[in-house]
Amino acid sequence: MSRLLITGGAGFIGANFVHYWIKKYPADRVVVLDALTYAGNPANLEPVGKHPEYRFVHGNIKDYDLAVNLLQEEEIDTIVHFAAESHVDRSIHGPDAFVDTNIIGTHTLLKVAKTVWLDTPKTETRFHHVSTDEVYGSLGPDDPAFSETTVYAPNSPYAASKASSDYMVRSYYKTYGLPMTISNCSNNYGPYQFPEKLIPLFILNCLAGKALPIYGDGLNIRDWLHVEDHCQGIDLVIKKGRVGETYNIGGNCEKTNMEVIEAICGLMDELSPNKDIGPYSSLITYVKDRLGHDRRYAIDANKITAELGYAPAESFETGLRKTVEWYLSNQGWCQNIMDGKYREWIEKNYEE
Ligand code: NAD
Ligand code: DAU
Repeated sequence: MSRLLITGGAGFIGANFVHYWIKKYPADRVVVLDALTYAGNPANLEPVGKHPEYRFVHGNIKDYDLAVNLLQEEEIDTIVHFAAESHVDRSIHGPDAFVDTNIIGTHTLLKVAKTVWLDTPKTETRFHHVSTDEVYGSLGPDDPAFSETTVYAPNSPYAASKASSDYMVRSYYKTYGLPMTISNCSNNYGPYQFPEKLIPLFILNCLAGKALPIYGDGLNIRDWLHVEDHCQGIDLVIKKGRVGETYNIGGNCEKTNMEVIEAICGLMDELSPNKDIGPYSSLITYVKDRLGHDRRYAIDANKITAELGYAPAESFETGLRKTVEWYLSNQGWCQNIMDGKYREWIEKNYEE
């Protein structure tokens, strides 16, 4: 039996991971620590709210005392660290929060783990840090995909903050012996993703009859991975990955943004046609490019595949269909975000 602290568990991937873990390991203790920023939504955790081994703690990863107490009181042996500012566009307009949470917040958690786990060692522990392929920078059309030995070259403030946090995690292993693993993952999609990211934004804009804003020429490439496959990859790394190692997790699914958008529009035409709009592709609008927009990401997942037996279950076609269906069946969840109702609820229930 393990006792997990999951930071950022009210966000997109964190919430999916909490669902995944409780379903697969129902006897494990699962404690979520989340500050409920704009991206954190308690509704994402509603399905597990009554599970006897689940606990939600509203708090910031920068709160050293809170985290020390939690690790001690709950006898945590595994930290799965998702909490972060995660949106590249926001990092371009306001990098401070990214430095604050992604670098300083991660470093605070490392100090907590070192104090509680290393100063009086008693059990097998693991600090798993969830990171991104964006730390590797941007690929040309013929470059080989990012592997674990690709040199870091982050371009956006978001990517730079994640790269810094990766280095801090590594340093706590090399310097103090903190048992850690890191996973660097490609673009996730699936249920509960905040509708600022490409796929949910475009689904909801179709529903609202709003423009679909394509940055630049729409030919930037991302390597898409269904979030449940990411959860499976993290599970393998935590359970079987070698301490001190990094594992890249990807979907082997490179698509241009145009290919993704056409697929979304096609599914929306099939599952939620709107005669007044016509084909949803009529909403496509080209807009000014993102500053410093990375051209191509692609993950070489050979290490996790060969060493840990990782194999994604969803193809892009099956995963995207399920995702569009999820957003269509969960319009209450979407509406609460779009009209800000989820914030009102948080303020009422978590006011300090
Ligand atoms: P998200 O923005 O949906 O969720 C982030 C969560 O962290 C929210 O619940 C938020 O309230 C919480 N949080 C933020 N700052 C906090 C703080 N200071 N203290 C406590 N909680 C805080 O993010 P996501 O897309 O689920 O990403 C999760 C992690 O995975 C991030 O570390 C991100 O860098 C990484 N990642 C994401 C992707 C992707 O495609 N979304 C791909 C690779 C890696
Ligand atoms: O690669 C992993 C990363 O993927 C994660 O680390 C980040 O947390 C996650 O946000 C994601 O970053 P991207 O910048 O790739 O994702 P986003 O959904 O913002 O954009 C995907 C692509 O779509 C990118 O090329 C920009 C483009 N785009 C995005 C939006 C929101 C548009 O053309 N129009 C848009 O409105």
